[in-house]
Amino acid sequence: MASAEGRETHIEPPDLAMLGKPLEFIRADHHRQRKLCGLIEELARAPRLDAGKAEAVIAYLGHDLILHFIDEEEGLFPLLRRRCLPEDEIDAIFGMLSGEHADERRLAGDIRDALAGLVADGTPVPELPEVQEKLLRFAKRERRHIVLEDNIILPIARARLTEHDQTDLARQLATRRGIHTNPR
Ligand SMILES: [Fe+2]
Ligand SMILES: [Fe+2]
Repeated sequence: MASAEGRETHIEPPDLAMLGKPLEFIRADHHRQRKLCGLIEELARAPRLDAGKAEAVIAYLGHDLILHFIDEEEGLFPLLRRRCLPEDEIDAIFGMLSGEHADERRLAGDIRDALAGLVADGTPVPELPEVQEKLLRFAKRERRHIVLEDNIILPIARARLTEHDQTDLARQLATRRGIHTNPR
C-alpha cells in the first residue's frame, strides 16, 4: 500500500470509524502491533537496512504504541478494575501488564534511538548484535503481551463492561486522537 506522499505504508493507520466500538478498536490495534513485531523481526535479521521499514517502526513506537498503552492504562484497565468480580482474579494480571508496558516503553525508546542512528548511516541491524537482541526481545515480549490481552483481558471486558463504560471508553479514545464529537 502507498501513502499520499507515495511512500509505502508498512502498517495501516487505525480505522477511526471503529472508535464507537472501543474493545474492537483495541483488538484491531493489537493486530497492527503484530505487524509492527513482524517488521521489527524483519529489520533485526535483514542483511540490508530497509530505511522505509525502520522509519515506520520508529514512528509507530513513538506515537501509536504510546497512545495504545495510555488507552489501556488510563481507560480500559481502570474501568475493568471497577467492574471485575473477585473470582476474575485480575489484579495480578493488571500489575504484570502495567509492568510490561513500562518495560516496553523503555525498550521502545532505546530501539527508536538505535534505528535512527542506523538509518543515518545505512548500517543493517545484524551488524550490531546488541541492537538486534533488543529488537528481537521487544517483538517476542510484545507478542506474548498481546496474546494475554486478546485472550484474557478483552473477553472479560466484553463480559463485564456496561454499555455506559464502553461509551465512556470510546469517548476517551476519540478525545486522545483529537476527535471531540460523540463517536456513537
Ligand atoms: Fe497492553
Ligand atoms: Fe494492548
